[in-house]
Amino acid sequence: MGLIRFGIIGLRRGRSYARVLRLVGGAAVVALYDADQSRADAAAHEIGARAHGSLEAFLSSEIDAVVVASPIPFHAEQSGAALAAGKHVLCEVTACDTLDAARSLVAAARATTAVYMFAENYRYLDEVEQLRRMRVDGHFGELYYGEGEYLHDVRDLFVASDGTPTWRAQPNGPVYCTHSIGPLLYILDDRVRTVSALASRSEEDTDGLPPKMHVLQMTTDRGATLRVRVDIGSPRPHNMAHYALQGTRGAYEAWRGLGDRSKVWLVDEHEPSRVSDSACWHPLEEYAARYIPDRLAAPPEARTGGHGSSEYWMLRDFLAAVRGEIAPPIDAYAGLDYTLPGILALESATRRGAPVDVPDPRAW
Ligand SMILES: NC(=O)c1ccc[n+]([C@@H]2O[C@H](COP(=O)([O-])OP(=O)(O)OC[C@H]3O[C@@H](n4cnc5c(N)ncnc54)[C@H](O)[C@@H]3O)[C@@H](O)[C@H]2O)c1
Repeated sequence: MGLIRFGIIGLRRGRSYARVLRLVGGAAVVALYDADQSRADAAAHEIGARAHGSLEAFLSSEIDAVVVASPIPFHAEQSGAALAAGKHVLCEVTACDTLDAARSLVAAARATTAVYMFAENYRYLDEVEQLRRMRVDGHFGELYYGEGEYLHDVRDLFVASDGTPTWRAQPNGPVYCTHSIGPLLYILDDRVRTVSALASRSEEDTDGLPPKMHVLQMTTDRGATLRVRVDIGSPRPHNMAHYALQGTRGAYEAWRGLGDRSKVWLVDEHEPSRVSDSACWHPLEEYAARYIPDRLAAPPEARTGGHGSSEYWMLRDFLAAVRGEIAPPIDAYAGLDYTLPGILALESATRRGAPVDVPDPRAW
């Protein structure tokens, strides 16, 4: 297969894909679409691609693959339209915003031979990949607890420059949980079975805005417990990639800030865990050269996607899937495994944390 011709929908986040694709190689961005024509025109000038005036014209153009980087409410519909037009799709997070949209995405993915891949970039972070490889190598024993936090004060993005609320301010939008759940499920090789969620509001919250924070407690098919905290509305320093793990033979906690480093303690390698002379943390990075030599050898420019080198590795995998060399590592089912707990959390939160079953989309 020659150069893969890309089109990009949504030209704020979408611009970072154009940057990283240029670096990855084997691809050319030739078509753009944005609901804001002036933004599409500006991006066309910058990228050297053609801006189309409608989604139909964009999808009819000579492209092989589409990056869907529009707002979440459009993801399932635009992914479905692109798949129906025979285009491969890489879709931004979250995969969809309702159960109906999830079902339509599954139907669209089944009706085509084109590739659908979910663009969960945090799942491609170096640290997440290292933990997965260490888990596969038996370092943590059986993992029975995982924790993730996405703490990102985006209140500035709730209101557009003309004063109208943006899509992020929708009170019933899905919990933005895939950056936390995706890496945990990848490391554990698991799927969420039930979700129980609480939503926090404070007295100063205005009606019509999403809750400040959600806490999700989940059970998995393998019997693990996951706890995920997503806070997009509290004043505080960001921390978007916090994770922790506990297994029968080891534990891990990510850095917190102020120079803190990510750390592990492993039964097989470190001092015993006792009441007196208790176990001590050891730097995770001591294991990096052994487990992620490929990641350490990435060119410095690989970090231009905005989240370490995650977009670089993710796009390499997507291109390999489009070329038929590998199955898409995060297909529609896996994308929904990461997304559905955040949709069903809304139902649980309205019932004050009652557990809600998370369906397996493979059975639909
Ligand atoms: N994976 C990540 O780390 C990451 C980071 C940022 C954003 N995102 C995701 O990327 C997507 C876009 O986020 P953003 O920050 O660029 O949002 P944004 O609101 O800043 O920009 C959205 C862009 O899409 C355009 N748009 C709006 N409706 C559209 C439609 N129906 N069709 C085509 N274009 C449309 C807007 O004009 C705008 O240019 C979201 O799904 C978000 O969750 C992911």
